[in-house]
Amino acid sequence: MGGQVLRLQDVTVRRDGAALLRDIEWTVHEDERWVVIGPNGAGKTTLLQVVGAMLFPSEGVVEILGERLGQTDVFDLRPRIGLASAALAEKVPPEEKVIDLVLTASYAIIGRWNEEYDSGDVTRAVELIDQLGCAHLIRRRFGTLSEGERKRVQIARALMPDPELLLLDEPAAGLDLGGREDLVRRLSALAQDPKSPTMALVTHHVEEVPAGFTHALLLRHGSVVAQGEIDHVMTADNLSRTFGIPLNLERGRDGRWYARAYGF
Ligand SMILES: Nc1ncnc2c1ncn2[C@@H]1O[C@H](COP(=O)(O)OP(=O)(O)OP(=O)(O)O)[C@@H](O)[C@H]1O
Ligand SMILES: [Mg+2]
Repeated sequence: MGGQVLRLQDVTVRRDGAALLRDIEWTVHEDERWVVIGPNGAGKTTLLQVVGAMLFPSEGVVEILGERLGQTDVFDLRPRIGLASAALAEKVPPEEKVIDLVLTASYAIIGRWNEEYDSGDVTRAVELIDQLGCAHLIRRRFGTLSEGERKRVQIARALMPDPELLLLDEPAAGLDLGGREDLVRRLSALAQDPKSPTMALVTHHVEEVPAGFTHALLLRHGSVVAQGEIDHVMTADNLSRTFGIPLNLERGRDGRWYARAYGF
């Protein structure tokens, strides 16, 4: 077990009278790769915003990479965290070139524009784009990419500053079958690479959980249904309670999960 990357104690997030998250307890260690699973509106994105130092809880204690939210400068903390989400993708100007989008990752977070890139930075950006299977897109404009290509470029960008924590919100949403399988395979390789940062990935589909993820947190109506080692947490009973419908759960030989509703 590595050092502690996240520690949430009694975390509640309220907005306009509604509790989006309720009494969350969550501890994440360095070498762990977590999936956060839950239905629409469960609070998954809200949770990722809290651990990404983008949102302060209404109650409770949040420690991210050894820093306590509220007692630390979030502008020092955010560059240590890689975040990829649909909300962030919407902010990318369509004319931005793929290479520039990845290159500026280390600077954009702190709002700086630097015309002269270090050649080491360029090499790293090119390697990451290649690692995500997007080498042929390097000169393309973001606005011309397909949904799947955008997702992969975003992950390359999130990895660019060599973050200590990587947060992915629905990375496979909007992808076709081939695109999803390709992405899940790449995320699986990333999860199994000991040099990768600690990871937390949000999804509503157990089919999208890449092999190599070690822990799971199941969320429903802002509360934790179950959490811990993935083999213990991923049961038909836990998933049925999380999604509020009776589900059968199977696991393939490759370590992937498959869920099906029954009894309708
Ligand atoms: N400002 C707000 N005021 C009241 N409710 C809000 C506010 N912002 C978000 N919510 C609600 O909080 C709940 C949790 O939202 P969140 O985006 O975290 O869910 P999610 O699990 O990511 O869902 P999805 O799978 O659809 O992305 C939703 O029901 C949402 O409508
Ligand atoms: Mg969401």
